[in-house]
Amino acid sequence: MKISIMKLILLILMVTAASGEPDLLSEQAEASGVEIVTEIGPIFQKEFETATTCDRPQHQGNASARLPTVLTPSHYVVRLQPFINGNLSIHGSVDITINVVEATRRVVINMIDIITKNETVQLVSLNSSAPVSVMQQTYDPKLQLYTAVLDGELTVGSSYIFHMEFQGYLNDKLVGFYRSMYRDAQGTEKWLAATQFSPTDARRAFPCFDEPGFKATFDIQLARQTNMTAISNMPLISSEPIDGEDGWVWDTFNTTLPMSTYIVGFLICDFGSVTSNELNHTVYKVWTRKDALNQATYARDVAPDILTYLEDYFNIPFPLPKLDMAALPDFKFNGMENWGLIMYREIALLYDPQFSSVASQQNLGYVLAHEIAHQWFGNLVTPHWWSDLWLKEGFASYMGYIGFNYAEPTWGLLDQFVMDYIHPVLVLDSLHSSHPISVEVDHPDEISEIFDVISYRKGASIIRMMQHFLTESTYKKGLTNYLNALKFDSAKQDDLWHYLTEAGHEDGSLPSELTVKLVMDTWTLKEGYPVISVMRQNTKATLEQEWFRLGGAGNSSRGRAKFASDTTKPSSGTANSSSETVGWWVPITYTSQSNPNFNRTHTQQWMSDDRKSLQITGLPNMTQWIIINVQETGYYRVNYDSATWKMLHEQLKSNHSVIHLINRAQLLDDALNLARGGLLDYPTALTITAYLEKEYDFVPWSSALMNFDYLKDMFERAGGYGLLKNYLLSLIVPLYDSVGFDDNVHDPHLTKYKRVIAVKWACKLGYAPCVNSSAALFEQWMQSSNNESIFSPNVQRTVLCTGISIGGEKEWNAAWSRYTQSNVGSEKSDILSALGCTKEVWILSRYLEWAFTPNSGIRKQDASQVFGAIADNTVGRDLAWNYLQDRWIQILEYFSSGSGHLSKVIKYATATFNTPLLVKELEKFQSDYEGHLGSAVRALDQALESAKLNVASMDAYYDIILQWLENKDQSHSG
Ligand SMILES: *[C@@H]1O[C@H](CO)[C@@H](O)[C@H](O)[C@H]1NC(C)=O
Ligand SMILES: *[C@@H]1O[C@H](CO)[C@@H](O)[C@H](O)[C@H]1NC(C)=O
Ligand SMILES: *[C@@H]1O[C@H](CO)[C@@H](O)[C@H](O)[C@H]1NC(C)=O
Ligand SMILES: [Zn+2]
Repeated sequence: MKISIMKLILLILMVTAASGEPDLLSEQAEASGVEIVTEIGPIFQKEFETATTCDRPQHQGNASARLPTVLTPSHYVVRLQPFINGNLSIHGSVDITINVVEATRRVVINMIDIITKNETVQLVSLNSSAPVSVMQQTYDPKLQLYTAVLDGELTVGSSYIFHMEFQGYLNDKLVGFYRSMYRDAQGTEKWLAATQFSPTDARRAFPCFDEPGFKATFDIQLARQTNMTAISNMPLISSEPIDGEDGWVWDTFNTTLPMSTYIVGFLICDFGSVTSNELNHTVYKVWTRKDALNQATYARDVAPDILTYLEDYFNIPFPLPKLDMAALPDFKFNGMENWGLIMYREIALLYDPQFSSVASQQNLGYVLAHEIAHQWFGNLVTPHWWSDLWLKEGFASYMGYIGFNYAEPTWGLLDQFVMDYIHPVLVLDSLHSSHPISVEVDHPDEISEIFDVISYRKGASIIRMMQHFLTESTYKKGLTNYLNALKFDSAKQDDLWHYLTEAGHEDGSLPSELTVKLVMDTWTLKEGYPVISVMRQNTKATLEQEWFRLGGAGNSSRGRAKFASDTTKPSSGTANSSSETVGWWVPITYTSQSNPNFNRTHTQQWMSDDRKSLQITGLPNMTQWIIINVQETGYYRVNYDSATWKMLHEQLKSNHSVIHLINRAQLLDDALNLARGGLLDYPTALTITAYLEKEYDFVPWSSALMNFDYLKDMFERAGGYGLLKNYLLSLIVPLYDSVGFDDNVHDPHLTKYKRVIAVKWACKLGYAPCVNSSAALFEQWMQSSNNESIFSPNVQRTVLCTGISIGGEKEWNAAWSRYTQSNVGSEKSDILSALGCTKEVWILSRYLEWAFTPNSGIRKQDASQVFGAIADNTVGRDLAWNYLQDRWIQILEYFSSGSGHLSKVIKYATATFNTPLLVKELEKFQSDYEGHLGSAVRALDQALESAKLNVASMDAYYDIILQWLENKDQSHSG
């Protein structure tokens, strides 16, 4: 059954999800490696590109790209000599020890962009079975499978060494073994070669059994020029000069532990490093361009705390003698957890207190802790197949938060988890185009598509739910048992369920009639989540669950259900009740006004998946509020009767601190989304938000602002925007006043973070004191030199955006020139976004051109960030959309490889679409470019679904919201 993949949303920030930053900037202004620098290069490249991703056919039909299971590899010797400063070719060989599980006449392995030297291929028997020779070699580029057909049968139980020599190529696609360039402080070009194998690109570097379930040990040997360093998963054990090749040596690395191909990694570069001696058994180093070494301090200092804490948490030591982390000028993901050699984009590993904001520091910590958590979840125990990707990504995300929270205990990270992870994914997961987190995939294209918000954030959210319904000590015990039982092996989700159930029953934290599998399968095998509706009567409450969907009764535009595209009004009661008979096992927790206890997060009652209603008794009577889903530990929404909503509102108004800050964030997020879905009237939901004028905590504010962002997007071009703006200002100005515009370095982290959002929103809404302060600082900044610090990095984005938006050509050019000179990734990223704030249409137009022009100064990987900044500008949106319509084919070619960029530009361009005309244009776009949408097919479906939903919402709610704002306005002024 392979339907689910068809409904995937691609709107989603592929792996950048890990940090919450949709587009991160890396160091080089130069679009490095876009051109081939040697004469032989282009010809050589041609040979390869016939089978590369740019024209990789969509996976069709039933042919599976999976490897047969008749052979298993146990050991690899991989030798590679990459000519980084030469013609970019790679001389390589592999010797793979294979064990025969079932008799076969074929050796089938993964490979792409590799030219085999057919005459070198041979099988050497390790236990004197009958010799076999290779009769024929074939290659299937669609399935990325190489086959050697043998003249005899390999017999069960025997072992062979498969030997092959080949030629590879250092590509510029940021996958496999690829090349990258940066300029040092003197402007000299420095080339390097790095790997990015996850999920399916180890096969670009050497032929291999490239599936996570095939674990083996690896001997890596790399040839390098003597002015460079080679690093791999394991420590170097020898360096030997190469006979007849002056200035070259072979580096040999120690044999790895049993591991999957996707976490093999190596790097050949001239980086410098800083070393930490904080770890007992492991030498830890951070590598970066020498010019950026001073930015490695935070990463050097914070990682040992996190690693040590997780070692204790799992009670399993980190098994490698060394751990390297490296910051690359060009990197596909934010970070990649290669065992013993974790690689990052610069912005995700480097931090400069003078020029990087608290937000970028926190993102860095998230990514770093996430990658460290992978050393257990993913590297030690690996998902057997990519269908269970969430098993490693969900855990790395959640355990990363836990580890990082230990290192930075005053940052409220576990509270922030709710607004960073749960709230955004609850929105996505209530669309028809969502997908289950455990999902069948086969072809590499399908595998890439599940590296999305659903796998990461929903995965992490339901793991948090489990931690609470099992209790932390049971959860810990179950995890340790799971990790110990399956280490150096692979696992399926059922394995995890088994160990957690065992621990839960032993400890009595899980009722004996329940298993973790019974409960959790309802959360992992289907998409979506329930809304729990609460009806109270005297001291009882009756709870019911329904599937919560934003877009009308339960049908989708693709796959098994149909989205009613002609719906103009969301019906009230949009939760799907008819077609779904099976619900979720829902852990219910609650507390009440008379006896508020927000620490009790262990399940008080279970709601079963048969959708029978659940009774809670012994509550206070109906003059007092109750709150369900304490600390929002359950992955669901809650809707109350109107009397309870009213009491909650009154509590918030009179003394909100009685309610836990996570539950305040929950009330805001639930109310506004229930209203969006037609389950709660907007006036009630908006009334809840009114207490924010007295709210000074970061987490509820962040949740509120995410929801206000949506309202702002919907209203921005409508006559009622002024009223909305005034209302939002009336809420945000007290927060702004409480933190002030000026950053104080000694403020606590969360105060600074609050300032970031208060200043951003106050200026965005045109609040004069904010705009004036920004403009004045921007003026000074223009006059200043590069290394001068005029304002805190925490207000950098806002100051730059404001200055550029009220300025003209001169201001824009000044900022552009600073962008090209900056040595700090996060500063460059801030400037790049701010450059999209200008109101000069011609400048925006030129900026848009540059975004898609090689060597313009904007890297290919940053093009979608620039596009997004322009599309997010009221003046720029139509420009961006027109550009997309006119130049789609060029854009498609520019982003040749199946990157997430195509879906991002679609998402950015259409984020605010809410009129029938725009829906029509979008439909026309879809049909005009049918068959030429590349990896944006699903993003477009999703954009269309959202745009239609927005049209319906505007239709149904615009007047109601406006009226509420008018009344509010009058009550304010009157
Ligand atoms: C050599 O092997 C490749 C597969 O790697 C195959 O496509 C090609 O046809 C082979 N060439 C010859 C001459 O057998
Ligand atoms: C290393 O030496 C080679 C050969 O002299 C040169 O081409 C290359 O630029 C040098 N690389 C670095 C990073 O200095
Ligand atoms: C290589 O690894 C083995 C096994 O862990 C260890 O005994 C040996 O000392 C290592 N060799 C070097 C040179 O580090
Ligand atoms: Zn990850």
